[in-house]
Amino acid sequence: MKDDFGREISYLRVSVTQRCNLNCVYCGKTDCEKKETELSPDVFRILAGAFAACGIKKIRVTGGEPLVRGDICEIIRLMRGLPGIETVSLTTNGVYLKQYAAALKDAGLDSVNISLDSTDEGVYRHLTGADALRRVLEGIDAARNAGLSPVKLNAVLMRGVNDDGAEALIDLARKQPIDVRFIELMPFSEQGENAALRITGEEILRRFPFLKPSDADGGTAEYYTGEGFAGRVGLISPVTRKFCDGCNRIRLLSDGRVKPCLGYDTTYDLMPYLGDEARLPEEIKKIIRKKPAGHSFDTRSGGRGLNRTGG
Ligand code: 5AD
Repeated sequence: MKDDFGREISYLRVSVTQRCNLNCVYCGKTDCEKKETELSPDVFRILAGAFAACGIKKIRVTGGEPLVRGDICEIIRLMRGLPGIETVSLTTNGVYLKQYAAALKDAGLDSVNISLDSTDEGVYRHLTGADALRRVLEGIDAARNAGLSPVKLNAVLMRGVNDDGAEALIDLARKQPIDVRFIELMPFSEQGENAALRITGEEILRRFPFLKPSDADGGTAEYYTGEGFAGRVGLISPVTRKFCDGCNRIRLLSDGRVKPCLGYDTTYDLMPYLGDEARLPEEIKKIIRKKPAGHSFDTRSGGRGLNRTGG
């Protein structure tokens, strides 16, 4: 399925909840819908199934924090079973990952991205509002031991806040076969709109000249590695190196609305078509066609509250 700019849309990100057990300073978290009104695994199956019928091959489950849902394994199992879906991955803050890793793997989960912005307990607490660093580190080990692959870590660096911990994060990729990816701070919150806080991909390369280009994997990150590294360092630069031209993604939100671009507030409601499922694919195709050419983080805010959208 191509959009009006000729981009093949093959990647669906499904936010399964707005709730999150952390309060990260850059997220811009807003009030969440109640647990009671969240969509059921079966409704996600129907909606995501209609996307699969439109050519989606890869699904990433996000939130909020997806592991706050007790039925997350059921959601993963249903997504993995959809005809045409080749991989299902999950983005999590990792706090509950230790207890879920093996069950997620059993449910068919392929790979996992874990958010980790610091390996220092105090800095982690300051950034997330929770004393949970040790649990996240245990979650990373549990994911690897369960056979989830690849395991990727996502970090957002902020000048004077956690950027002095960049090397310790890089060290994780030096010692283990995991990818540590630095995501440029995006304008989703007051902190996010403060450009002085942003550490660009280019700046990371200047600071760590031992990083040498490595193979791309077709995603949004540019990969680097160093002498003796078991894993890689990824740079994701949505602000300074927009990747909109190659964007292959579309988002399904936890209330059944579709968000074609992270940089715009525009959404389209699929819930009116739930009783008329045969119509869903044609409605989805109309929405995909209208996906904007690119985001506009430079001229306006990306919209508040990543917990409502899915990272
Ligand atoms: N800028 C960049 N990345 C962000 N994330 C959340 N908010 C922002 C922001 N303002 C990332 C988190 C996590 C993923 C879910 O989204 O670091 O890895």
